[in-house]
Formats: sequence, structure tokens, C-alpha cells
Amino acid sequence: MSKLTKKFGAGLAGIGSAVPDRVVTNADWAKLVDTSDEWIRTRTGIEERRFCDEHTSASDLAYIAAQKALAQAKVLPAEIDLILVATSTPDYPVFPSTAALLQERLGCVKAGGFDLSAACSGFSYGFYTAVQFIENGEYENVLLVCVDTLSKNMDLTDRNVCVLFGDGAGAMVLKRTDAANRHLASILGLRGSGAGELIVKNGGSRAPLTEKNFADKDKYIYMNGKAVFKFAVQIMGEVTEQVLRKAGLQPEDIDIFVPHQANIRIIDAAMKYLKLPAEKVLVNIQKYGNTSSASIPLALDEAYQAGKLKKGMLVAACGFGAGLTWAANLFKWGI
Ligand code: ACO
Repeated sequence: MSKLTKKFGAGLAGIGSAVPDRVVTNADWAKLVDTSDEWIRTRTGIEERRFCDEHTSASDLAYIAAQKALAQAKVLPAEIDLILVATSTPDYPVFPSTAALLQERLGCVKAGGFDLSAACSGFSYGFYTAVQFIENGEYENVLLVCVDTLSKNMDLTDRNVCVLFGDGAGAMVLKRTDAANRHLASILGLRGSGAGELIVKNGGSRAPLTEKNFADKDKYIYMNGKAVFKFAVQIMGEVTEQVLRKAGLQPEDIDIFVPHQANIRIIDAAMKYLKLPAEKVLVNIQKYGNTSSASIPLALDEAYQAGKLKKGMLVAACGFGAGLTWAANLFKWGI
């Protein structure tokens, strides 16, 4: 059992997800760039991904996922105290926040809210932030929405990047609870010395979108794939071990491990490090690619719908991404 005791518990009350309808297969990419289905499958595990159309934004996907999570939790929008949106691809680059757009659309009349930027670690950072407001007794119901539409920030001719990402959203309603099925422990990590390894250089205050900067490829995602891969392989197992230690638990106590879905080889390395059997590990990268902050709640929602997650199971989630960021969470499945 966890050796961490908190005055108030934060438990999962509802979950939902959303992906765009448009499916982009590896064969589609092979027609556009110098790649092949075989290369993408064997190097990444990805078979297809979903892309938003030009009319669909992050808040549109977030809205659908949030509605599902609220309905399942049987929590009314008016009962939400806080909306937290983890995203690197907000509807608007400066303001307003995506949380503000959701607040209006959902009708969360009493909620405060803000966006949080932690790239592909967005779920793990967002989850830990959300539970703080409940565990400290301040709030009762928090809506966490993780959404990214990276298809809109990619150079569609850069095979090093474009085949990897997909769009999606995952949402959770977290609720104050006295039950044992609650958040147990989390860990956050940040290494800014790796900021240049995964970066969109233009479009912010350092290089605003002037005509010259707009014409430049630096407005798209740049990734040093090898460096990120090496970092991820090392960090995923380590941070999961650390969060288990924080809660006084062992890898064998994990019922379900849900790693960020970036590359099947990275997931395999973490599985080996933690000595976890395949049936305990959630993998859906083949269907959605890397959906950044959405990947963990999307995988959890799918697994829950498929009956793989049962109340009381110990879930370990673990993410990494641009920053470089990494994070892990340990919680008992609450629904
Ligand atoms: N199709 C065919 N060939 C390709 C493709 C492609 N789509 N992409 C790259 N290649 C080529 C490269 O150009 C290279 O060719 P070269 O040897 O002639 O230079 C060759 O394949 C091998 O490239 P590597 O980089 O060695 O390939 P690797 O096995 O490392 O796989 C990959 C590349 C998939 C990008 C891997 O490094 C990776 O997954 N890295 C981690 C990426 C990641 O997790 N990013 C998400 C972070 S989350 C966030 O915050 C957004």
C-alpha cells in the first residue's frame, strides 16, 4: 500500500476521448514523401493516424472528449471548479487560452481555468497539477483535457517528423474522494539543456511570424529523433521506478502500465526495464501515432471501453517530450 497519506483524495470519476475522422495511412505517406509502410511500421510501430481537417481545432476535439468525460462522471458542467487544458497546440497562439474557449462552450459557469504546456508529458503534468487542487481541499471537481493537433505544425515534406504524429484529445473528470481508489504519487522532470532537440523555433517572441520567419521551415517542428529516442529509452523506466518508490510500491504491483505512445521500440525498452508482461502494457500507437499530450488518456479510455481496466487496479502512467520533459503518475482506477 501507498505510504503517502493526504487529507483529501483525488479520484478518477469519468474519462472520454476524441479523434478526427480522417485516417492517414502509411501508404498515404509513401505517396507524398520518400518513405514506406515497412519503414514506418518497423521503426515506429505506427500503421495509421488521424488528422483534423482545416475547420477543426484543438478546442473542437477537446470539447467532444470533455463532454464524454462529464457524462460518464455524472458531473454537470456547472459543478466543475477548474478546467485545465494540457496542450502545445492551442486554438490561438497567444490568447485566449483553450480552457477559456471550453469554459464557454461547455457551460462551466463557475470554473476557473488555464492551459499548461508540457508537450508530450502534458497528461502527466496536467494530472499532477489537477490533483493538487483537490488534495489540498480547495476544489471538488476538476476537468483535465489533454489535446494536440500537431498535424497543423508539421512540414508535410519532412519524413523525419511527418509520419510520427496524429491528432487527438483525452479528458478526465477528477473528483474529491474518501475511497482508496485515488491518486497515489507523481513525479515531474525537466531538462532545459535539451530544449533544442525538439522545437518549433518561429512563431513565438524570439522569432515572431514576420513575412521572413513565416516563409522559413523553422515555423514547423524540428526533431533530433536519435537524441530524443536515447533520452526516452533511459527516462521511461527510471521515472516509473521512482514514482513507485515514492509510493512504497514495486513494478510487479502495477496492474496497467500506460506509456506515452511515441515509438513501439521506446515502449518495449520501458517494458523490459520494468520487467512487465505485454498484457499489462497499453499500446495503441499503431492506430493513432503520437498524439502528444492526448496519447495516455486516449489509450486509457480505449482500454476502459474494452473492459481492460477495472475499479481499484493500480495504473502507472509515464510520459516524455519536448522541453525536455518527463513525468509519471501512479493512481488506482476509480471507475
Ligand atoms: N521513412 C524512411 N526513412 C526515414 C524516415 C521515414 N519516415 N525518417 C527517417 N528516415 C531515415 C533517416 O533519414 C536516416 O537515413 P540516413 O541513414 O540516410 O541518414 C535513416 O532513416 C535512419 O534514421 P534514424 O534516425 O537512425 O532512424 P531511427 O531508427 O532512429 O528512427 C525515429 C527514427 C523513428 C524518429 C526515432 O529516432 C524516434 O522515434 N525518436 C523519438 C521520437 C519521439 O519520440 N518524439 C516524440 C517526442 S514527444 C513530443 O514532445 C512532441
